[in-house]
Order: sequence, then C-alpha cells, then structure tokens
Amino acid sequence: MSLTPKPGIMEIEAYEPGRSEAAGVARVHKLSSNESPFGPSPKAVAAYEAAEPKLGAYPEGSARILREAIAAHYGLASDRIVCGNGSDELLTLLANSYVRPKDEVLFSAHAFSVYKISTLANSGVPVEVPTRDLKLDIGDMIARVSAKTRLVYLANPNNPTASYVAVSDMRRLHAALPDSALLVIDAAYSEYVRRNDYEAGIELVSTSDNVVMTRTFSKAYGLAGIRVGWAYCPKHVADVLNRVRAPFNVNIAAQRAAVAGLADRPHVEAVIRHNETWRDWLIEQIRKTGLHVEDSVANFLLIHFPKKAGRSAVDADRFLMARGIILRGCASYDLPQCLRLTVGSEEANRAAVTALAAFMAS
Ligand SMILES: Cc1ncc(COP(=O)(O)O)c(C=O)c1O
Repeated sequence: MSLTPKPGIMEIEAYEPGRSEAAGVARVHKLSSNESPFGPSPKAVAAYEAAEPKLGAYPEGSARILREAIAAHYGLASDRIVCGNGSDELLTLLANSYVRPKDEVLFSAHAFSVYKISTLANSGVPVEVPTRDLKLDIGDMIARVSAKTRLVYLANPNNPTASYVAVSDMRRLHAALPDSALLVIDAAYSEYVRRNDYEAGIELVSTSDNVVMTRTFSKAYGLAGIRVGWAYCPKHVADVLNRVRAPFNVNIAAQRAAVAGLADRPHVEAVIRHNETWRDWLIEQIRKTGLHVEDSVANFLLIHFPKKAGRSAVDADRFLMARGIILRGCASYDLPQCLRLTVGSEEANRAAVTALAAFMAS
C-alpha cells in the first residue's frame, strides 16, 4: 500500500493569505489582511523587546501570565482560558479534538476558510449553510443541525462579509444543538463591533457546557505577526485543549507583548475610533463611485464589482495593484465578484477611494 494522507486532506485548498507586494510599485498600501493600520501599542513593543534576555529559556508552558491578564481584564476564570499560536491554532485544535471521520461540521457559506480546512483535515463532512443576501439566517443553520453534527463554527462578525449575528440568534442556535455538539464562536473582530444586540460569546460560554469563544490579538491589538489568540472554554474543553496543544505553543515574547497590549486601553480605543470614522467614510465614498458595498461592523468592507468585462473584480484588482493598492480577492470565499478592503490609515483610505473612483471612471 502506498503512503496516502487521511481521507479529506487532498480536498483541501490550502489557505491563501492576503498579498503584501505589488510588482513594480515602490509605495504600497496593504489593505488585504485585516491588520491594524496602527500596529501594536508601543507598550507591547517595549514588552516584546524586554523579553530578549529570556529568549534562551523555554517559556512557562501554559501562558499563565497571559491567561491571568485576560482573566482579570474580562472577569473570567484563568483556568478556562487556553492560549494559542493565533486563534487559528485553537480553531484547528478544536476540530482535531472533537471531529471524528464523517462527523458533520456546520458553518456559513462565505465563511473563514480555516473552518473547512480543519474539518477536511479530520475527515469530517463540511456542511456549508447558504446565506441570504450574504447574511446567515440562523433558522437556515438550525435546519441543518442533525444527529451527526459535532461542531458548529460561527464567525461573529464573519470574514469576509462583515456581517454579524445577534446574541438572541446565537442563543437560538445553541438551544437547537445536541449536547454532543460544540458551538465555536469565532469572535476575532469583536473589539470593533458596537451594536446593542451583539455579545462576543462570554455569556454563552459561562452558562453552557458546549460553547467555546475564540479571540485574537491579531486584529484590534495589532499583533498579527507575533501570533497570539485565546479561547474561553468550559473546563472540560480547556482540559482537552491542554492535552493536545504543543507544550510551549505561545512564545515568551508573544505572551509579554499581549499582556502589555491588553493593558494599553487608550491605544486600542484609538484604533477602534479610527476604524469607525474611516469605515463609515469609506462606505460612503465607495458607494458614491457606483459600487455596491456591504454594511460592516468590522475593520473591513466587502465590495461588489459588476460582472461586465473591464469592470470586474479581477479588472479592479489589476488596476488597483498597478497603483499600489492591495486588496483581498475573494474567489476562495466563493465570491469571485468581490474584493475585500481593510480599513487602513487615512492616507491609505484616501488612496484606495481615489483609485476606485478612477477605475469606475476609466
Ligand atoms: C474570522 C477569523 N477568525 C480567525 C482568524 C485568525 O486570526 P489569528 O490566527 O491571527 O488569531 C481570522 C484571521 O484572518 C479571521 O478572519
């Protein structure tokens, strides 16, 4: 018998990261990866640098200093928090731990690609719930829950559609799940959401036995490069994750930078305020060019392009790249007529709007 990977693995389309270079253009604005235009807090950078004398030793294995800082910040129990090398790692470890071959894993169409990848990597069956006008109708998701459902990934807000699910709908979904299924609420962009009917997931995790919330320092905290995420879990799920994760999965510089970043409230509040101002401005200005833009509660926008030759998303991408504006193509999200734009610095936002207006007028 020849060596073959587990069933499902060869069906995976490898994750495609946002591009960061535009050939032949010296000055680029990278608006393709939902990063913060401000980067990390200067206090996080100082903490990272101060970790230098510790680089020769293994870090404390459970990321205790970071778990305790997160617990104090949000009023949670530190032994129910598990930190990861980005929240990607935790999303993947949850599937590795619970999905058996042929188990069903539910998630919305046009959702973050890691859900499908980690399902197929565990020989599970991805069940993609079609959206209505790119929004997930929770009733449609509930209709697909079956005895075979083992895990449900709910990106809230969702990337790349920038829409969200109200807390009442999250509760309805949870109530419809069998006890043998795990609801994973991926709240990577939650810091950006300002809606009265939104809750990141803390309440649901605190009051149930089969809900996990994942969070990240990659977005509003501007620490994508150092890879830190965390999960708030029922105790028995934290116990499982602690058995399967790598022994030192969050390095010491990352732990210290994240602790300092979390403590710098003024920095993150400024990031969120900037995002609100410029997200609304971008939506308004891009709509004025005649393009359709989805409403957004996050730090990115989904822009639809006409199917007409010369006006398509591929044409727009080429036009923008030539001007150093790098957006994210959405073909891998089954949205080939769309590009995703991350809210950037004032300069980048203005340059993006100027280029989009020129494209539409060309
Ligand atoms: C919806 C969603 N979840 C999770 C992540 C993973 O973030 P990280 O692994 O950097 O914590 C991303 C990153 O793009 C995302 O868009």
